Amino acid sequence: MLDAVLSNSESVKKRPEGSNGGQEALRIPKEPGNKVTVVLGAQWGDEGKGKVVDLLSVEADIICRCQGGNNAGHTVVVDSVEYDFHLLPTGVLNKKALAFIGNGVVIHLPGLFEEAEKNLQKGKGLQGWEERLKISDRAHIVFDFHQAADGMQEQQRQQQAGTQLGTTRKGIGPAYSSKAARNGLRVCDIVADFKVFEGKFRALAAHFLGIYPDLSVDIDGELRRLKDYAERLRPLVTDGVYFMHKALSGQSKKILVEGANAALLDIDFGTYPFVTSSNCTAGGVCTGLGVPPSHVGRVYGVVKTYTTRVGVGAFPTEQDNDIGDLLQSRGREFGATTGRRRRCGWLDLVLVRYAHMVNGFSALALTKLDILDTLAEIKVGVAYSVDDKPLSSFPANMDVLSQVTVTYETLQGWCSSTEGARHFEDLPLQAQAYICFIEDFLQVPVKWVGVGKSRESIVKLF
Ligand code: GDP
Ligand code: IMO
Ligand code: MG
Repeated sequence: MLDAVLSNSESVKKRPEGSNGGQEALRIPKEPGNKVTVVLGAQWGDEGKGKVVDLLSVEADIICRCQGGNNAGHTVVVDSVEYDFHLLPTGVLNKKALAFIGNGVVIHLPGLFEEAEKNLQKGKGLQGWEERLKISDRAHIVFDFHQAADGMQEQQRQQQAGTQLGTTRKGIGPAYSSKAARNGLRVCDIVADFKVFEGKFRALAAHFLGIYPDLSVDIDGELRRLKDYAERLRPLVTDGVYFMHKALSGQSKKILVEGANAALLDIDFGTYPFVTSSNCTAGGVCTGLGVPPSHVGRVYGVVKTYTTRVGVGAFPTEQDNDIGDLLQSRGREFGATTGRRRRCGWLDLVLVRYAHMVNGFSALALTKLDILDTLAEIKVGVAYSVDDKPLSSFPANMDVLSQVTVTYETLQGWCSSTEGARHFEDLPLQAQAYICFIEDFLQVPVKWVGVGKSRESIVKLF
C-alpha cells in the first residue's frame, strides 16, 4: 500500500511541465501561498467579532464570511456612525478591499439588499459596496418560505415540547435543511435560466407546503421579486473556489475571515439542540470557503469578559439577579438582529477552554472590559460539578449542562474607568490581573482588550 502511494507520488513528480491539460489555474502552488486569518466567537455569540474584524480589516485585501446567514448581527462604530451587519462582511466598509460571501453562507436576497440600503443611509461607509462584494455561486438561498417555516417550527416546538429553540426566525435551520436534503437552490441556479429556476423553486415551495399546509407562501409574488434580485445579483456572482484559490496562490494578500454566531452555537460542538445550523468553529472556514486546511493561518478567538446568550438553552454562569441586570444594562445587551434582551452572567472559562480545544486559538481578543468597571468583585467560572462530583469535560448532554454547579474564582474589581486605556500599563492593576488570570487559565495569549464601542477603544498587547 505504502509502495503504491510512494510510486504514485513519484509519478506525479515526474509529470512534465504543462501536462495538466492547460488548466494553469488548477496547479497546486509549490509555495505555501497566502494564509487566511480567522476571527471566531468563543461563547454564544455577540462577543464583539464585528469590532475585531473592523479593526483588522483596515489592513486586509479580502474579508470573507464562510457560514451562517442574517441570523448574525455585527455592530461596528466608525466615526461615531453605528453600522449593523448581518450578511455583509463587516469589511465591506474598507473601500480598498473586496468582501466575499462564501459557499457556506445561506443568503436571503431581500435581506442582503435591505441591509445594504439601511447602512448606506447611516454614513458614507457603504458607498460603492456593490463594486466590492463578491458572492459564491455555490451559496444556498434562503427563501421567504424558509423564514415562515422557521416560525412554524418554533410554534410546533412550543406546542409539542413546551419550549422553543429561540431562533432568530431568519429561516436558517430550514435553509440548511434544504441544503442537506439536496433540494435547496443556490446562487448559480438563480442567475442561470430563470425558467429552470422557477420550476425548481415551485417544487421546493410545494415540498414545504406539503410539510406545513398552513404556511403562508406567495409563490408568484416571491418569484417576481426574485427575478429582479437575480439581475442585481448577477454582477456580484463568482466561482468561489477559483476566487479563493487565486487569492491564496497569487501575489501576497491579507485575507480575513469573519466568523458569525459562535463555538457554543456550532451545529456539531455547540449546546445542541440549542444551536444554529452551521459550523461556526474553525472547520467551517475550510468547508465554507473552499480553503485548504494548510492555508488557515492565525485563528483569533473573541471572548467577552462576561457571558451572554440570546434564546433558550442551558447557561451555567447565568446571573438572573442584580449582577445580570447590571451587565445587561451597562453592556446594552440587546440582540442586533432581533432586539431581544440578552441573558447575562459571569465569564465561564470551562466553556471558553472547550471552544479553544475545538478552534486552537492563536490568541484572544477580550472585549467589553469597560462594562466591568463598576464592579467591586468579579467572578469567573473555573470548574463544573454535578452532585458534588467534578466534571472532567464540557458535557455533550444538555440535561447534564443544565444541572451543573459552577465553581468560581473571585477576583478584585477595579472600580474605575478603563475607557481611556490604550496600553496595558494604562489599565488598573486589578484589570491587568484579570487579563493575566484568563491567559494563565487558558494558556492562550490575549492580544487585544476592548474598552469601548468605537474602533479606537482598544488596548493592543502585542
Ligand atoms: P458580534 O455579533 O460578535 O459582532 O457582536 P455584536 O455586535 O452583536 O455585539 C457586541 C456589542 O458590543 C456591539 O454593540 C459592539 O459595538 C459592542 N462592543 C464591542 N466591543 C466592545 C467593547 O470593548 N466595549 C464596549 N462597551 N462595547 C463593545
Ligand atoms: P452573532 O454573529 C447570538 C442563536 C439564536 C438561537 C440559536 C438558533 O451576532 O454572534 P438560528 O436563527 O441561528 O436558527 O437560531 O442561535 N444565534 C445567535 N445568538 N449571536 C448570534 O450571531 C447568533 N446567531 C444565532 O438566538 O438561540
Ligand atoms: Mg451579534
